[in-house]
Amino acid sequence: MSPSTTSRFAAVYHREPEAAWRSPGRVNLIGEHTDYNDGFVLPLALTSGTRVDAARRDDRVLRVASVQRRDEPIDIALDGLEPGIVDGWAAYVAGTAWALAERGIGVPGADLLVDGTVPRGAGLSSSASLECATAGALLELVGVDLPLRDVALLAQHAENDFVGMPCGVMDQFASTHARAGHLLLLDTRSLEVRHIPFDLARDGLALLVVDTRAPHRLVDGEYHARRASCEEAARLLGVPALRDVVDLGSALSALDDDVLRRRVRHVVTENGRVLDVVALLESGDVRAIGPLMTASHVSLRDDYEVSCRELDLVVDTALAAGALGARMTGGGFGGSAIALVEASAVEHVRDRVTASFAAAGLTEPGFVDAEPGDGYGPVR
Ligand code: GLA
Repeated sequence: MSPSTTSRFAAVYHREPEAAWRSPGRVNLIGEHTDYNDGFVLPLALTSGTRVDAARRDDRVLRVASVQRRDEPIDIALDGLEPGIVDGWAAYVAGTAWALAERGIGVPGADLLVDGTVPRGAGLSSSASLECATAGALLELVGVDLPLRDVALLAQHAENDFVGMPCGVMDQFASTHARAGHLLLLDTRSLEVRHIPFDLARDGLALLVVDTRAPHRLVDGEYHARRASCEEAARLLGVPALRDVVDLGSALSALDDDVLRRRVRHVVTENGRVLDVVALLESGDVRAIGPLMTASHVSLRDDYEVSCRELDLVVDTALAAGALGARMTGGGFGGSAIALVEASAVEHVRDRVTASFAAAGLTEPGFVDAEPGDGYGPVR
């Protein structure tokens, strides 16, 4: 986050901000495409995120400028704000204001400056971090303190019903609830959270996050289709959600459709892997989580079919270079992959991945710092 955000605010708006809030991006260690199936997820927050500075206006306009986009500020009229009116990145800001208003919180006109350091399109939840930081700054302006759970749910409401992306709750919960040095175990049915200590350096390990820089292809349509398949399978199996499948073998034999069978197998086995990873971490057997990460990737690639050439290349190359485990992370079809590596091997794995992309004629991948950071909070 740029230390010069406050001076940039003064340069754009000719006054000082009255509120400033930050909320991080996330990387998911394991538990992919489980959050809209009432299952388990295990993300950590990044130390990079989005900062939103704000000051009240006298009219009913939200004016939004961005440190990263040097174009003119965008004006959003608060009166008559409804889904479909605002598009592009400003929709995440407008949608958050809309969701706050839907909850009965009177959002005032305001000048906002957005400073985001999560790479966009990297599958690291730049959008959830923007929604949550916007919510925090607007709530601070009006002096309302909402429980973290409410902030996460209203940010998800903004994304589902204003932006139109039918995501689960993982990203917004990670952005608001995460704690430095910990993973966040979230039960997406009860919304209960547990902070699991995660200090890889102590064990001589590191988590490499590789941004493939592959453009997301058809991601929203495919995401929607996966979600619809899961709902259809749950209906056919007579359970409220795929979380409730207890006997995978009989569930698979009860389904005629091979695609549905594979979707169900992914979700059910992935939920099991999340709980197994937590148990291994709690018993101190950190290296043993590697094979579970790799199994998650294989399941996402073959059964859930949300991987792509670039993600597979990171995983295969990292494993061949000695990683203990590797997988795609986030929604898929591009975005980022992660690898669990010995700290002494980070440079080697990184170099091998970069070389494999060059050899395949692909855009050079990026590497993102994966120190588990804190969730949502004020900037002081
Ligand atoms: C996206 C969504 C999340 C989750 C992941 C897949 O990041 O926003 O809610 O479904 O995909 O695990």
